[in-house]
Amino acid sequence: MKLLGVIPLFAFTSATVLPRALDIPTLHSLASPYPVNGSYSSPSECAYWLEDVKRQGIAAFNPNPDQYQVFRNVKEFGAKGDGKTDDTKAIQRAISTGGRCAPGSDCASTTVTPAIVYFPSGTYLVSDTLVDYYYTMTIGNPNCMPVIKATRNFTSGSVYDANHSPPSGGSGWGSTNVFFRQMKNLVIDTTDVAPSVELSAIHWTVSQATSLQNIVFKMSTNPDNMHSGMFIAEGSGGFFSDLVFHGGRYGLNVGNQQFTSRNLTFENVNTAINLFWDWSWTYQGISINNCKVGLNMSSTDGTGAQTVGAVVFIDSEIKNTPIGVVTARNGSSLPDSGGSLILENVALENVQVAVLGAKNTTLLSGATEPTIIEAWGQGHSYFTEDHEKTVFQGSMTPNQRPESLTVDSKFYTSSKPKYEDLPAFQFLSIRSAGAKGDGKTDDTEAINRALVLAAASGRVVFFDSGYYRVTSTVYIPPGSRIVGEALPVIMSSGEYFADMNAPKPVVQVGLPGEIGRIEWSDMIVSTQGAQAGAILIEYNLASWPGLQPSGIWEVHTRIGGFAGSQLTVAECEKTPETEIGQQNIDEQCIGAFMSMHVTPPASGLYAENCWLWVADHDIEDRNLTQITIYAGRGLLIESTAGGIWLYGTGVEHHSLYGYRLVGTKDVVMGQIQTETAYYQPNPDATIPFPPVAALHDPVFSPGDRGLGLSVVDSEGILVYGAGLYSFFNNYNVSCSQTDSTVDCQTSIFSVQDSNVSIYSLGTIGTTYMVDADGEDYADAVDNLNGFIDTIAVFRSYL
Ligand SMILES: *[C@@H]1O[C@H](CO)[C@@H](O)[C@H](O)[C@H]1NC(C)=O
Ligand SMILES: *[C@@H]1O[C@H](CO)[C@@H](O)[C@H](O)[C@H]1NC(C)=O
Ligand SMILES: *[C@@H]1O[C@H](CO)[C@@H](O)[C@H](O)[C@H]1NC(C)=O
Ligand SMILES: *[C@@H]1O[C@H](CO)[C@@H](O)[C@H](O)[C@H]1NC(C)=O
Ligand SMILES: *[C@@H]1O[C@H](CO)[C@@H](O)[C@H](O)[C@H]1NC(C)=O
Ligand SMILES: *[C@@H]1O[C@H](CO)[C@@H](O)[C@H](O)[C@H]1NC(C)=O
Ligand SMILES: *[C@@H]1O[C@H](CO)[C@@H](O)[C@H](O)[C@H]1NC(C)=O
Ligand SMILES: *[C@@H]1O[C@H](CO)[C@@H](O)[C@H](O)[C@H]1NC(C)=O
Ligand SMILES: *[C@@H]1O[C@H](CO)[C@@H](O)[C@H](O)[C@H]1NC(C)=O
Repeated sequence: MKLLGVIPLFAFTSATVLPRALDIPTLHSLASPYPVNGSYSSPSECAYWLEDVKRQGIAAFNPNPDQYQVFRNVKEFGAKGDGKTDDTKAIQRAISTGGRCAPGSDCASTTVTPAIVYFPSGTYLVSDTLVDYYYTMTIGNPNCMPVIKATRNFTSGSVYDANHSPPSGGSGWGSTNVFFRQMKNLVIDTTDVAPSVELSAIHWTVSQATSLQNIVFKMSTNPDNMHSGMFIAEGSGGFFSDLVFHGGRYGLNVGNQQFTSRNLTFENVNTAINLFWDWSWTYQGISINNCKVGLNMSSTDGTGAQTVGAVVFIDSEIKNTPIGVVTARNGSSLPDSGGSLILENVALENVQVAVLGAKNTTLLSGATEPTIIEAWGQGHSYFTEDHEKTVFQGSMTPNQRPESLTVDSKFYTSSKPKYEDLPAFQFLSIRSAGAKGDGKTDDTEAINRALVLAAASGRVVFFDSGYYRVTSTVYIPPGSRIVGEALPVIMSSGEYFADMNAPKPVVQVGLPGEIGRIEWSDMIVSTQGAQAGAILIEYNLASWPGLQPSGIWEVHTRIGGFAGSQLTVAECEKTPETEIGQQNIDEQCIGAFMSMHVTPPASGLYAENCWLWVADHDIEDRNLTQITIYAGRGLLIESTAGGIWLYGTGVEHHSLYGYRLVGTKDVVMGQIQTETAYYQPNPDATIPFPPVAALHDPVFSPGDRGLGLSVVDSEGILVYGAGLYSFFNNYNVSCSQTDSTVDCQTSIFSVQDSNVSIYSLGTIGTTYMVDADGEDYADAVDNLNGFIDTIAVFRSYL
């Protein structure tokens, strides 16, 4: 409280129009005479606010919240960072202290032991694998990037291991349940290790709500070296960006269900990207220089069938590299739709073969002089005019990109801010401002006051780790910048959010009609108990066209399945044996009305790596027991002016739909991912949330399942990778297992009166892949691609 009194209020106020409010030059030099806690001493070149702010984060639902330490500076655990001392054990202590969740232990996953393992600048020698624990953010100082350097005698498989196998073998954690972790601002250097040692700098077998950002990989440049930057065996990702690879046999040596990777640079790597399996992987802004091979996606299994399902590769460049892309797809290769590939806006220079096929055939020639591949692809395509499948391999018409979405012909992108230029005193701790974050106290008022004052004074709001219980709406004013420590949670609770006939936003970004922008990163919005009227995020701000769009990065919704949610296995264990209808629905397990709503007046929103998740299982439970949580709607976009970018997002297990676009335009999305609620059709999509006409809910027939993606009355909708999955029939997985009887649901993607282009449309468990203007077509069995079904290009024009 006392703190708020001393924050100077500057001349501009939050609700007035702030054109490019966050670009105002004075903002960065804005020197408050009132440091947050007086620790602002000698601002050195290396100073970084995260290292300097007062440590107040807590783990609210940890059994010992008073003892548990969230922030761990590795130097405080004995690491020297002097380039001479072996720091392996000290760093490992920083990771593991506090009864945390170790791979291969009795802990299958947990949210109660979050940690930041922080590396100040320095060179940290490690002689053995650093074993990552669950819910860990590994963060370095971006202003003087710390180096993790493998010693000369390093022999182990990976330097940093996000899913370490126990000595008994197998996975550390089930690869599709490895959520909530980050690594950023680090250099990992294996150049001292003999080239013959087979290693990876990072083993990253992970799933949703994970990220890597701003990491430099330094590896051997010996032509026969066996170093890899990153190894991913499997999982259900995921997103990473801003990575630079020097040397190595592989930059990426990876396989995963679906992924989005943006802004990767490869220099002097033998094979920049070795992709050995996937359902669909979207690469954007990739720069490959002086390598031997750009992207090798030609891997096959023991029967000769391709193991890579699909790749979308856009807005990238390949230079001074003899072979661009290697594919095994040919006229008779299997699976039928395997090796689907789209290249769009890819620049070449000094490349001999752009796409190399099986048996050394050139599918697309390279170029010595700078040349652009406007669009080239292979796989199956469908256009609504005829509903017929075409098998194609060759140049194609690129998407007509709405100009408002591009900068210099590439799609606009924006990396998660690190605020590396701002001193610590410019961050306003939400706990210093009076919020408790203990999961019990009602923090609504303290948060609302702090957000308005921070926006008005140009400060960044720092949400210390914790659970911030709120009993009415949190309002984020235009001009706000908000960043979380180890994914803190705003958690709605109580009567205000309990009525599905009068839904209320938990977090409201701007009021309808307000203009301006915000930045928001590294946080979760959740609910506690029965919250049938909770709209977790309502986005109203208009900034488009004309102003820089808002950005939200790693802002997730998480409904149920975690300690403190009161929506766990104790309350909401699945009941597939009981027939469920409106009359016997468990109202205690109705967790939310909608995850996120981008309303009609809103425009100009960039969202990266956001996962809107209704829990299908209890994260804290040793057996990850399945639970039934009801949440009506996923992400509804109704922005009339449009200007929306969604990179690396997923929306899972909502009743009525995952993504729904109504009356909007100029939206680019990729890779998107959805899953139908596992309990459906017991009850079906309309129970307990009857469709509401005013919200343009889809119309269902009795017994229908929810939709993954549906687009109505919209234009300029471009999707670069979509994975829409329906695995279960009332928790019985057999409906998605065999090619001949994929019938968990009839269709999962619908388009009506809209201009839509989708590259790499993948479905699982649906009989048809498309419902266009009421007609089902594109039989899944005509587009088999291993476990998934793939259409390389789908276009539906008005
Ligand atoms: C501010 O924080 C630093 C670092 O946590 C601490 O050493 C210092 O005592 C604090 N200063 C005040 C005035 O609270
Ligand atoms: C490897 O070298 C480091 C020092 O560089 C030393 O601490 C460690 O014990 C050595 N490991 C082995 C297995 O020799
Ligand atoms: C790409 O990543 C690098 C390294 O973090 C960063 O310096 C650069 O600004 C990023 N570029 C884009 C377009 O995001
Ligand atoms: C591509 O990868 C396959 C293994 O999946 C390998 O056999 C082949 O040699 C690689 N091609 C090139 C050109 O490196
Ligand atoms: C096509 O690819 C398959 C492997 O998927 C291979 O067995 C076959 O020989 C190839 N055919 C031609 C003509 O290259
Ligand atoms: C593949 O073709 C290129 C030229 O097109 C040639 O230089 C190379 O030797 C061939 N490789 C094999 C393995 O046949
Ligand atoms: C987990 O499953 C095992 C058997 O598979 C059972 O013995 C144990 O009680 C279960 N634990 C919990 C917490 O449900
Ligand atoms: C919609 O499709 C039509 C027909 O191809 C095209 O003329 C028009 O430009 C498209 N509109 C947008 C916004 O993409
Ligand atoms: C799952 O469904 C299949 C096919 O309908 C059926 O044969 C099987 O018995 C079901 N399994 C369970 C556990 O109900």
